[in-house]
Amino acid sequence: MKVLITGKNGQVGSSLIAQLTAMPAMDFLALGRKELDITNSEEVNRIVTEFRPNVIINAAAYTAVDKAESEQSIAHAINCQGPKNLAVIAKEINAVIIHISTDYVFSGDKEGLYTESDTVKPQCVYGQTKLAGEQAVAEACDEHIILRTAWVFSEYGSNFVKTMLRLTQTRLTLGVVGDQFGGPTYAGDIAAAIIDIAEQLQKGSHHYGVYNYTGYPYVSWQEFAVQIFESALANKMINSPIAVNAITTAEYPTPAKRPANSKLDCSKIASDFSIIQSDWHAALKSLKKYQ
Ligand SMILES: NC(=O)c1ccc[n+]([C@@H]2O[C@H](COP(=O)([O-])OP(=O)(O)OC[C@H]3O[C@@H](n4cnc5c(N)ncnc54)[C@H](OP(=O)(O)O)[C@@H]3O)[C@@H](O)[C@H]2O)c1
Repeated sequence: MKVLITGKNGQVGSSLIAQLTAMPAMDFLALGRKELDITNSEEVNRIVTEFRPNVIINAAAYTAVDKAESEQSIAHAINCQGPKNLAVIAKEINAVIIHISTDYVFSGDKEGLYTESDTVKPQCVYGQTKLAGEQAVAEACDEHIILRTAWVFSEYGSNFVKTMLRLTQTRLTLGVVGDQFGGPTYAGDIAAAIIDIAEQLQKGSHHYGVYNYTGYPYVSWQEFAVQIFESALANKMINSPIAVNAITTAEYPTPAKRPANSKLDCSKIASDFSIIQSDWHAALKSLKKYQ
């Protein structure tokens, strides 16, 4: 299988490389923004046509959720035009495109879990551009997988876990939002799910379309922070417990509105691809590598 990966320096991109490197049968080319800017359609066409992958994995994105409110056109170019460029050329060379999307396509007002067919209604610019990207990919290339995930963390890049660990250096008490709920998702688990899907598609699976995939169990940010600090204590990264008080979204205003409910129903990916949500606690066990 020949796989082209964009956004190689991101959380998911780095996790994909780490796993594919250990799979000798995989012929993959991973490129960062410097080597392949997905908004540049000529560059995309040239590189994809030269490499001729069976599978294109788009791990590139504009992920600065708050900054997107004031950088709408940049966010749109990266989150919509870029994926469209990749999907158009994927269709032309008969490749599959696997594109990553987000819980932010939903309003977060629903009670219970969001399924793939629930009404989309993004509440911020980032969510709007990611939804536009989903639609552009689906329109340009029938053989697409759009994987919606949420609350991504890993040893790479910047993320909530790393922010919490950094705060342990200066704080013994913290206020963390307790009224937003979701499934923290380890980027390594997303990478494993993507590789698994790519392999199944190459072996003849004909399942395409939108799939939810997040970690489990669902918690609030405050509950997630408590678990991070417990793990930090167990790993002897801190000497004394950190008190984490639940605050409300209203008490922690941000430029971009976030969904209160980011809990995604992941039963479709389980039934079509036998991919089961992973327990994110496992990825917190070896917390030292996040430093
Ligand atoms: N992080 C989350 O909590 C979260 C939640 C739900 C869904 N997602 C989705 O999951 C996917 C992966 O997220 P992530 O956390 O791995 O993101 P990330 O760590 O921010 O990585 C994104 C990568 O894309 C690259 N990039 C930006 N613009 C580009 C361009 N024009 N051409 C090529 N590469 C470009 C960035 O490069 P630079 O370093 O040069 O900017 C960065 O390395 C994204 O689609 C995101 O929307 C993320």
